[in-house]
Amino acid sequence: MRNVFVTGGAGFIGSHCVISLVKNGYKPIILDNFSNSHQSIIKKLEKITKKKIIYYNVDIRDKKKLKLIFKKHPCYAVIHCAGFKAVGESVENSVCYFENNVGSTLALLECMQKNKIYKIIFSSSATVYDDDKALPLKENGKIGNTKNPYGTSKYIIERILKDLAKSDSRWSIRIARYFNPISNHPTGLIKENPKGALNNLIPYIVKVAQKKISELKIFGKDYNTKDGTGVRDYVHIMDLADGHTAMIKKISHKKGLKIYNFGTGKGWSVLEVVKAFEKQTGISIPYKFTKRRKGDVAISICSPKKALKELNWKAKYDLDHAIIDIKKIL
Ligand code: NAD
Ligand code: UFG
Repeated sequence: MRNVFVTGGAGFIGSHCVISLVKNGYKPIILDNFSNSHQSIIKKLEKITKKKIIYYNVDIRDKKKLKLIFKKHPCYAVIHCAGFKAVGESVENSVCYFENNVGSTLALLECMQKNKIYKIIFSSSATVYDDDKALPLKENGKIGNTKNPYGTSKYIIERILKDLAKSDSRWSIRIARYFNPISNHPTGLIKENPKGALNNLIPYIVKVAQKKISELKIFGKDYNTKDGTGVRDYVHIMDLADGHTAMIKKISHKKGLKIYNFGTGKGWSVLEVVKAFEKQTGISIPYKFTKRRKGDVAISICSPKKALKELNWKAKYDLDHAIIDIKKIL
């Protein structure tokens, strides 16, 4: 059975990847410092997968510890999800974001190189795309005019990986550009559960549904979109997790660097998401309009065609299905 290291494997995306890997016959090993996740997730993952999950409480920047783990377990490939992701926080403390996101990636690459492991999947983001003029966004579209240090850290890492692939032909590098991951495992046992503040639309809607906050703030109603609110491409986390397994399955087929978008190719406005949530749950979501959030684009929708063609991956679940699964955590 092939070991796949999942950095950040206790977090939202990494934990769902762990489930998909087990389902497909791989042995995930979690490397996480629990800076934005909880150790209790391990037991939940074991309950869902019915397998013992090996994990290490380790900061990926700690090269000494990393070296010991790589010595102990032969590793087939690494899925690198570890990193900080709060856009607002990254503006307030950019050095910390570069230090953690870029620093951990460099430490990881160095350790992989020393142990002759040359297969890596990197969690990147739609945020690296330059603008929303050429919709749907394609992998070869313009990138780099990032709006905040978080996005810049993803862009810098992509550049480092591109140069690495050029300079050493042994590497198989896959860059996964996520659009808007939402929802949770259908059991509701695991979900997005950050230690820090929430940032994203769906977790806020859930808080309103649970009556923990009184209303949703909708950031802007004057965008050039169907109803004036921001449009995004929401992808079910289980689909996204299976996308990682699809990349792992094919990673030895082609060396070099490949980039894939992971989204549905369909856009939903904030108001449409609210309406869909109300329809599926029967819970009313009061909202009010506020000013635009700094750094937001009007529309972000991807072309997922490359992932379909090369990985045979396609999102199976739509927004309604994602909300049906969210009902399990209400
Ligand atoms: P998350 O915060 O839930 O998970 C990240 C995990 O990494 C956490 O468990 C955290 O404890 C761990 N971590 C952070 N720094 C670490 C370090 N130095 N050493 C070890 N562990 C460390 O976030 P997520 O939503 O699961 O995102 C995973 C990755 O995907 C991130 O790199 C994020 O930037 C990227 N991404 C997320 C989204 C999204 O909407 N969730 C969108 C695009 C890209
Ligand atoms: N929104 C609101 N109110 C809220 C939260 C969000 O109106 O309380 C709106 C936003 O303005 C935007 C849409 O809902 O129009 C989606 O916002 P999210 O914060 O859920 O998601 P983003 O598209 O801003 O960003 C997400 C991740 C980033 C990632 C990006 C692209 O948070 O890490 O998708 O992948 F980079």
